[in-house]
This record gives sequence, C-alpha cells and structure tokens, in this order.
Amino acid sequence: MQDPKASMNSNTFMEEWSAYALEHSQSIPDLLLELEKETYQKVLQPRMLSSPLQGRFLSLLSQLIKPKKILEIGTFTGYASLCLAEGLQKEGELHTIDNNAELVHLQEKYFTRSEYVKNIHTYLGDAIDILPDIDGLFDLVFIDADKINYDAYFEQVLPKTKKGGLIISDNVMWSGKVLNKASTKDKSTVALQAYNIKLKLDSRIKTVLLPFRDGLTLSWVL
Ligand SMILES: C[S@@+](CC[C@H](N)C(=O)[O-])C[C@H]1O[C@@H](n2cnc3c(N)ncnc32)[C@H](O)[C@@H]1O
Repeated sequence: MQDPKASMNSNTFMEEWSAYALEHSQSIPDLLLELEKETYQKVLQPRMLSSPLQGRFLSLLSQLIKPKKILEIGTFTGYASLCLAEGLQKEGELHTIDNNAELVHLQEKYFTRSEYVKNIHTYLGDAIDILPDIDGLFDLVFIDADKINYDAYFEQVLPKTKKGGLIISDNVMWSGKVLNKASTKDKSTVALQAYNIKLKLDSRIKTVLLPFRDGLTLSWVL
C-alpha cells in the first residue's frame, strides 16, 4: 500500500505544478471563468468540467487545426465546447451532445453570451442514438461522455472524421484505475483498459496517450 504521506506530497506537488503551468499559459477568457464558478456553485459533480489548463490545451489544439466542423460527445456545462470553439473557422460548426436535460439552461446561458452562439449546435439525448443524425466530416472530435461507450463512439465517428483530423478521448487514465492489473468489476475501468489498448494497436490512427490530468489521448486519423 502507498504511504499516505507520500501520496499527499505527490498530490501537493502535482497541484503546484498545475498552478505553475496555468500561470504560464494563455489567459482564460472571462466568460469561462464565470462558467467555471457557476458550475462549481450549482451543478452536481462539478469536477466533470475540463480543468482550466486542459481547457487552454484544447483551445490551442483547435486553434492549430482551425476546424470547420467539431463534434463533442458530453457537453456538461459547455466549458470544453467554448474552449474548442475558439479555433473554429468563421462559418464553422460545433456539434455537442449531452443526455442530461438539467444542464440545458446553463449551456444555453453561456453559449448565448459567447461569440460562437451561431456556430454551436446542441443535442439532448443519448449520444449513441443521436450520432447517426449528425453529418461529418469532422476535423476535430472530443469524446468525453460515458466511458463504457467510448469504443462505440469511436467506431461511429471515425468514418465521419477527415483524414488528418484529430480524435481526442478524455479521462483515459480514470483516476489511475486503468493501471490496475488485477481483474476488476468496474465496467468503466475495464472498458477504458480495452479502449486504450485498441487505440494503440489500431492502424487507422496514430495515437499518443498524454498523462495529463485524468489522461487525454490524441488520435490522428490516417
Ligand atoms: C465529463 S462530462 C463532459 C465534460 C465536458 N466535455 C467538459 O470538458 O467540460 C460527461 C458528460 O457526458 C454526459 N453523458 C453521459 N452519458 C451520456 C450519453 N450516453 N449520451 C450523451 N451524454 C452523456 C453527462 O451528462 C455529462 O454531462
């Protein structure tokens, strides 16, 4: 078992590093600071939000790609949607799906106030049912919903993603649980362990798993 003191030290170390990294990264738009605050005040499980540093990373990737069409699976309160929208082409589209009706008012509130209101298209329902109705081709895809369906989402979106496009999968380390070699009954852990192996071996993509926050995999579509 890990020494609790060592684990506390390593958590403090990571927190300090994250704060330092954020301090030395591009500034966060005021609207996102407000959205983060309101999410922590009003929404259950606010930690599902992309972290500020991850948000800046998603924004930078999107600005590098300059996508015409983005797909996000798992909108939550719209934090990552707004980060990804920062790189959209002027007439570009961001399609984002979530099955939690209670989040709609907050998504609408912030999307409406953003400069991307005309670019963002929201969908309420199960992603697996909605995905066939959204046409590609996507330049950038962010998979960030229920972990047991990651593989199904990936297989649905891959044919709709441009060659040279990028598929990003979030939470692939699942708080470190994917490291567990012993068999586990946790379905999300099992699904992510298989998903991570599949992405590495899949010849249709080139993949790097970044040990960033809860694990972020970048898959470049060949
Ligand atoms: C981790 S949060 C997304 C966070 C968001 N992408 C961000 O970075 O700010 C996961 C979201 O997926 C949604 N979700 C879970 N299962 C889903 C499903 N089957 N279909 C659509 N959305 C789902 C949840 O309601 C939740 O809002």
